Amino acid sequence: MTAAPVTVRVPAKVNVQLAVGGLRPDGFHDLANVFLAVGLYDEITATPSDRLRITVSGPDAHQVPLDESNLAARAALALAARHGVEPRVHLHIAKDIPVAGGMAGGSADGAGALLACDTLWDTGATRDELLAICAELGSDVPFSLVGGAALGRGRGELLEPLETGGVLHWVFAVADGGLSTPAVYRECDRLREAAGTGSSAADVPEPAPSGDLLRALRTGDPGALAAVLANDLQPAAISLRPSLAETLRAGSEGGALAALVSGSGPTCAFLAKDPEAAEGVAEALLRSATCRAVRVTSGPVPGATVLR
Ligand code: C5P
Repeated sequence: MTAAPVTVRVPAKVNVQLAVGGLRPDGFHDLANVFLAVGLYDEITATPSDRLRITVSGPDAHQVPLDESNLAARAALALAARHGVEPRVHLHIAKDIPVAGGMAGGSADGAGALLACDTLWDTGATRDELLAICAELGSDVPFSLVGGAALGRGRGELLEPLETGGVLHWVFAVADGGLSTPAVYRECDRLREAAGTGSSAADVPEPAPSGDLLRALRTGDPGALAAVLANDLQPAAISLRPSLAETLRAGSEGGALAALVSGSGPTCAFLAKDPEAAEGVAEALLRSATCRAVRVTSGPVPGATVLR
C-alpha cells in the first residue's frame, strides 16, 4: 500500500446520439447511447485518512452531496468491500464539470474515485472488475472510465469503443440549476403516453445506433455529424425547462452547426466547425443571457487517467 496521494483526472461527456427505448420492468430504459468524452474535467484525489471523508472544491461545490449518495463514496466503499480493505480514505473532488447538467459529472467522480482508490490501495483489480463496479454504480460510470468515444447498449453500461476521425469542437451552455435524470426519463415516458404511442418496451422500437452518425464520427466530419445528432430526451428536458429552447436557438443563430440538449440536460451542447466558430458561438450565447455560463472545449479525450 502506498501512502502518497493519488490524483485522477476524469472527463465530462456529451451524447451525440441518445436513442431511448421503452421503459423496462426494472425501471431503466434500453439505450443506443453514443458517448463522446470532452475536455472538461473533475480531479479526484485520494489520500489515506482515519475514515471515509469527501470534500469538494469549485464554483458548484455547494451542490455536491458529501455523504454516501456521492458516487465517489460509493465507489470507494464498493472497492473496499470486494478487496477486504478498510475504506479509510479522504476523497477530494476538484469539480469543474457542471453539476446535474447531463454531462456525467457525478459518474466522472465515481469512476475517478474508483481508479484513485484502486491505485492507492494497490488492489490488483482487473480492468473488467473495475468496469463491473462502475456498471453497479450507474449507467454512465463505465464510460467515464474508458473515455474516447463509445456506443453504450443496455442501460448505457455495455460499451463498445468507437473509432473517431478527428477533433470535434464544442460549446456548452450551462443552465441555472440542474435537472434530475429520473425526472427527465419519466417525462419522456409521459410525453410518449400523451402522444398515444405508449412507453413500454413493447410499444417503443428497439433503440439503434445511426449508421450515418457512426460514419460521421469515423471520418470526423463536423458538418456530417451535425446533420444526424439526436437526443430522444431533448423534448422531455425542454418540457421540464422550456427556456432551453431559447438557449438552443441562441447558439444556432450564433453559428453552431447543430444544437442539442446534452444527455438529460439542462446543459445544451453546440457543435462548431472549428475553434474560431466555437468562440463565436460562445460569445453569442453570452450575449443572449440565456444561460449561466459558457464553456468551450473539444473531444474526444481519454477517460479516467492517473496524474500522480
Ligand atoms: O444509472 P443511473 O443511476 O445513472 O440512472 C439514474 C436514473 O435514470 C435511473 O434510476 C432511471 O430512472 C433513469 N435511467 C433510465 N434508463 C437508463 C439510465 C437511467 O431510465 N438507461
